[in-house]
Amino acid sequence: MTAFRRHRRLRASANLRRMVREHRVAVDDLVYPVFVQEGLRGKEEISAMPGVYHFGLDAFRREVAEVSELGIPALLLFGIPLEKDELSHSAYDEHGVVQEAVRAAKEENPDLVVITDVCLCQYNPAGHCGIVRDGKIVNDESLDLIAQTALSHAQAGADVVAPSDMMDGRVAAIRDRLDENGWTDVAILSYAVKYASAFYGPFREAAHSAPAFGDRKTYQMDPANVREAVKEALTDLEEGADMLMVKPALSYMDVTRAVREVCDVPVATYNVSGEYSMVKAAAARGWIDERAVVEEMLTSFKRAGADFIITYYAKDMARWLRERA
Ligand code: PBG
Repeated sequence: MTAFRRHRRLRASANLRRMVREHRVAVDDLVYPVFVQEGLRGKEEISAMPGVYHFGLDAFRREVAEVSELGIPALLLFGIPLEKDELSHSAYDEHGVVQEAVRAAKEENPDLVVITDVCLCQYNPAGHCGIVRDGKIVNDESLDLIAQTALSHAQAGADVVAPSDMMDGRVAAIRDRLDENGWTDVAILSYAVKYASAFYGPFREAAHSAPAFGDRKTYQMDPANVREAVKEALTDLEEGADMLMVKPALSYMDVTRAVREVCDVPVATYNVSGEYSMVKAAAARGWIDERAVVEEMLTSFKRAGADFIITYYAKDMARWLRERA
């Protein structure tokens, strides 16, 4: 008989499979994104993202306690301000919604890593990630405001700032601004590889940040490109990024792998709003097994090379991991 290899031998039992498993998700790998809304009391569910909420500051404090109790190491904070203006003043206001949320999180649990999303799109009426002039999103002038936003987050106590605007030169601008002001220990997690993705749909409802005109294709990346992703990643490393992110996660695992191979810093992937809502919607109809699908997805991100995962499923996953233990 022709010899063949018996791969099935090592799949024979749950314990054997557990022993030879190459990748696993731990609670240590999870970052939980949270939306904090200025002026809100309590919390309100986001309709396109069941199980995800807008938090007022009081309810946010309770959420911080819950996330901490689950052993999740970090939060990623998004702010929804009351006021928007052309120069996005509320983004870098000392008493802005993110700045207050950072202070509150640190009061509740000083050990929790607080990462802040640094962008302007929630803070100006055009809903774009930089300053708008004559219908264009101008790069260099936007850098000053983005750097100022990052600085104000650092001053409030953020451990890590995460620029998601995709302007060129922003990592260098932020690093300089932080260093000049003595914040040399605040790290930068760069959304280095951020695609112009339709998967952000539910987030834009959640963050009230849909562009009022046009789209984000002149600054976010074309989903067809991966060589360019490597170029973006290397550029942000040169500019001083401490960690890199690939976003979205699910359709871009090849990109996560490519970035992982060319850099020596931690790489994150962001399992974005549309990816979350798709799973939720199918699960609600009983079409898929939510827990099994989420565990498979998150494990696949690790296999693709992600060191950590930003996901709206972080709390669920932390609970499932606890149950399994
Ligand atoms: C802001 C920002 C977006 C997301 C994170 N930061 C939206 C966008 O660029 O349009 C998307 C997150 C998600 O979809 O979960 N620039």
